[in-house]
Amino acid sequence: MTSAAQTASALELCGVALRGPVLNGSGTFDAIAARRAFGDSLLERFPFDAFVSKTITVEPRQGNPPPRLWETPAGLINSIGLPNKGLEGFLEHDLPELAELPVPLAVSVMGFSRDELALLAARVGERDEVAMIELNVSCPNVESGLVMGADPVETARAVERVRPLTERPVIVKLTPGALDPAAVAAAAEGAGADAVSLINTLKGMAVNPRSGRPWLGGVTGGVSGPGIRAVALEQVHAVAERVAIPVIGMGGIASGRDALDFLAAGARAVAVGTESFRDPAAGRRVAAELRALAAEPRSPAPDPASKR
Ligand SMILES: Cc1cc2nc3c(=O)[nH]c(=O)nc-3n(C[C@H](O)[C@H](O)[C@H](O)COP(=O)(O)O)c2cc1C
Repeated sequence: MTSAAQTASALELCGVALRGPVLNGSGTFDAIAARRAFGDSLLERFPFDAFVSKTITVEPRQGNPPPRLWETPAGLINSIGLPNKGLEGFLEHDLPELAELPVPLAVSVMGFSRDELALLAARVGERDEVAMIELNVSCPNVESGLVMGADPVETARAVERVRPLTERPVIVKLTPGALDPAAVAAAAEGAGADAVSLINTLKGMAVNPRSGRPWLGGVTGGVSGPGIRAVALEQVHAVAERVAIPVIGMGGIASGRDALDFLAAGARAVAVGTESFRDPAAGRRVAAELRALAAEPRSPAPDPASKR
């Protein structure tokens, strides 16, 4: 467990200076649409200390058919299906706009093979506007049929392929469906990853109450929000105990209290995802609450580990 109070202010994340520890979860805040809606005031009061793009793929994608969202008692199930303009469309249209944000930019990439991942990392990593690359490994590798991030060996191979192609820090976004996320994190670290982030969404499904058929156009989707926070906290703790590289924790963070818990569990930085749909300024609020809480001394409590 690290001292949360020390990490609530400016920090360095894989050599990149950040003014604070609150990022966004990839795909949960559209900074380009927000700039259109809020104008330059978004830049003056940007809610995050670094911005993570939504995941891009080599080819453009339409995403899944609607409906794409289902509200759970404590969060969402999304079946968005990674709609994006593809690598060339992103570099031409989105990157120049994201480069105007007042914080370092991480670009999230997903490949359906190691070749695709290599192409994405090389092309994105050569751009000066990009401070970090996040590998979203929650997808099946068409070469092996395995979800890259579900397996330590697959993850290591993916990172080994990407590592020599870019000098940018590489963050591996872990999937919570892995049997042993800490083993996957250790494999990523061993292969040269500079940080890991977790958790991505958990697999879920909802049924249309009228038809009895699956509600989501994509049949299954990803569960996020406060309902997954306890799962995320446990995985962040297990991973942070196992690796020396920084851990970026996320999953249901909606307040400074939640963020502080992730930092106490070993995360170096945190990300706000689903909460930004309810409150687009959630990142800034979480950061302010976190600073206030981190300044308060925590009352000493017995260490449960000492009872074992
Ligand atoms: C609508 C939606 C879209 C998402 N898109 C992406 C994505 O493109 N890439 C990715 O790595 N994670 C994506 N995520 C996962 C989030 O970044 C985050 O890991 C997850 O939602 C857990 O955090 P939260 O509970 O705070 O939302 C998405 C989540 C949601 C709800």
